[in-house]
Amino acid sequence: MKIGVYPGTFDPITFGHLDIIVRSGKLFDKVIIAVAEDNTKNPIFNIEERKQFIEHSISDLKNVEVSSFKGLLVNYVSEKNALSIIRGLRVLSDFEDEFKMALMNRSLNDEIVTMFLMPHEKYTHLSSSIIREVARLQGDVSTLVPKIVREALETKFNK
Ligand code: COA
Repeated sequence: MKIGVYPGTFDPITFGHLDIIVRSGKLFDKVIIAVAEDNTKNPIFNIEERKQFIEHSISDLKNVEVSSFKGLLVNYVSEKNALSIIRGLRVLSDFEDEFKMALMNRSLNDEIVTMFLMPHEKYTHLSSSIIREVARLQGDVSTLVPKIVREALETKFNK
């Protein structure tokens, strides 16, 4: 079985992430969305909330599941017997960090291949922090995130 792992902070998941998830589901027998627990990013949603938003958003995708991980990503990917780390590339500025991360992961474990997918161009400007910022300032994010995320952001920022 060909397994791909799609890691990230997902604080919160957006339609851009979901676009990558749907594309990945067509390439792998199973896709595991791996939500990072250790994080210097100080997420606004806790790990259970971030997982719940994803679970809710992928309920119609039969070969996709959600999990979380601590420690090195390559160790988690090996434990899951996965072949590949899936990453989204949106704009050229993503490339440098992604390239460094992919090379570091390859030097840690040469068996694991990082695969880059491009989301639809209508999502290239999206990031979780831009969503948080717009929601905090009471802007409309309804075309950019699943309903469950929009509602949670509204509650969080008291809209
Ligand atoms: N649509 C919308 N946004 C996207 C996106 C897409 N398709 N792809 C990436 N992004 C955004 C994310 O929302 C995030 O936005 P933010 O910074 O505003 O919150 C940003 O791009 C980068 O996020 P992401 O690509 O998900 O990376 P991350 O920083 O959240 O996660 C880990 C990085 C968790 C995968 C990485 O730190 C890791 O592997 N950690 C484990 C420890 C380890 O092994 N370290 C060594 C790695 S070399």
